[in-house]
Amino acid sequence: MNCTEERDFHFSPLSLPFHFHLLLFFGILVIYLVSVSGNLLLIGLVYAVPLLHTPMYFFLCNLSVQDIVYVSATLPKFLSVTISGDSGIPFSDCMMQMFFFTFCVGAEFCLLAFMAYDRYVAICVPLCYTTIMNPNLCVALCSVAWLVGFCNSFAHAVILSNLFFCRSRVISHFYCDLKTMIELSSSDITKIQTMVSVECIFLGVIPFVLILSSYTCIIVTIVNIQSPAGRWKTFSSCSSHLIILILFYGPSLGSYLIPQSEHSKQQNKMLSLLYIALVPMLNPLVYSLRNKQVFRAVELLIERYRKY
Ligand SMILES: *[C@@H]1O[C@H](CO)[C@@H](O)[C@H](O)[C@H]1NC(C)=O
Repeated sequence: MNCTEERDFHFSPLSLPFHFHLLLFFGILVIYLVSVSGNLLLIGLVYAVPLLHTPMYFFLCNLSVQDIVYVSATLPKFLSVTISGDSGIPFSDCMMQMFFFTFCVGAEFCLLAFMAYDRYVAICVPLCYTTIMNPNLCVALCSVAWLVGFCNSFAHAVILSNLFFCRSRVISHFYCDLKTMIELSSSDITKIQTMVSVECIFLGVIPFVLILSSYTCIIVTIVNIQSPAGRWKTFSSCSSHLIILILFYGPSLGSYLIPQSEHSKQQNKMLSLLYIALVPMLNPLVYSLRNKQVFRAVELLIERYRKY
């Protein structure tokens, strides 16, 4: 039997009544549009207002670009499947989806770690902040993040293109997720699973350790500050990043650490949908609502606009 002859996959149908489909469609559509426009607005604002020309906001712009790309790689297809009922996806599209998704998510893990380092320098060695976080280092760090993301997605693409699918072509997820695809394949997957585990260690554990050590130093510094007001002020300069970290790492760690039963799969799928759709929407919101600088930047922009 030639396993590779038929190249199309199908997403497993949602077991929901029809009016829920509509509800889901409009819910996800709104979230998608809000997250793309929110991130675009944030990028525009940072570039337009010199007050926001700091490493943290440049990193944030990079994060926004990654957010836009990875929701656009997954959600539009999900929306079209939900509304049209046509659940087929060609192998090449599946590959593209996975490529862009893992590219951006991998880069994001890395970038979040570098942002933690940025906060560490700002809080623990504030006098050297401008020397250490110079534009060259920022560009280098961002390039490393994008490069890591690329290597990650390249590895995933190589793995995926080596899989054979003879048994089933029904993807029980709402996008082409590597873990789901591996489970689906009829190849010998022991070697592949070792590869994936090694990769998870590199991509998940190293940034996590960097984040943990940065925040340990930050906490030590904050605890040693005498005045409660100073303590609060210092803490609030890293609170946005901390919230994003929890949002980003919480569910993804949870979904990998908690063993999955067959019966919780449907729930998991819904949870990961929410998480993939919501986190990119929350990033710009968290940063702009928690930072006075962003409000100030908007004011400046409005003032400038009034003058014309
Ligand atoms: C990403 O970060 C780098 C370094 O700070 C910056 O030069 C670049 O403009 C950022 N990219 C975007 C799209 O904001």
